[in-house]
Amino acid sequence: MFSTKNNKILLTSFLILLLSPIALSSSIHDLLKARGLPAGLLPKEVKSYALYENGTLEVELQGPCFTKYENRVFFESVFRANLSYGSLTGVEGLSQEELFIWLPVKDIIVDDPTSGLILFDIVVAHKELSLSLFEDPPDCKPQGMCQVSTF
Ligand SMILES: *[C@@H]1O[C@H](CO)[C@@H](O)[C@H](O)[C@H]1NC(C)=O
Ligand SMILES: *[C@@H]1O[C@H](CO)[C@@H](O)[C@H](O)[C@H]1NC(C)=O
Repeated sequence: MFSTKNNKILLTSFLILLLSPIALSSSIHDLLKARGLPAGLLPKEVKSYALYENGTLEVELQGPCFTKYENRVFFESVFRANLSYGSLTGVEGLSQEELFIWLPVKDIIVDDPTSGLILFDIVVAHKELSLSLFEDPPDCKPQGMCQVSTF
């Protein structure tokens, strides 16, 4: 039979195994970086994510929320896209405000990291934004930021 000490070791290993998926789920930002995309494309408030074999990335946020890169953007509580190296295509769950209109973002592409640019395809327009806007995961707030940022 196992001694108490061995049982403790077993229990500890079991707990580590049990907890590791949680540790992994906090590394969506590392996954983005590993795929040639800036970590700041997704906010800090990520609850969990899954990457399926067909390339579909599904990210669950703590709730629908607003944040800002160049313009304001709105994340729905679930963000979905086809993840491949340097791009997120067929994006669902992200909109960007353009001239007071909210438009769905369809594709996000980093063709050439040395250009320092990231392309946002928002159906009616292609926007090239500075990659530097996306270095760090932003805070994403449930309310619109227009009320929050004016003092
Ligand atoms: C990829 O697989 C996931 C999980 O099985 C599924 O939910 C999703 O619809 C699939 N995506 C496509 C585009 O087939
Ligand atoms: C995802 O992107 C890859 C590479 O562009 C493509 O081959 C694949 O068909 C796409 N998958 C879906 C489900 O759109």
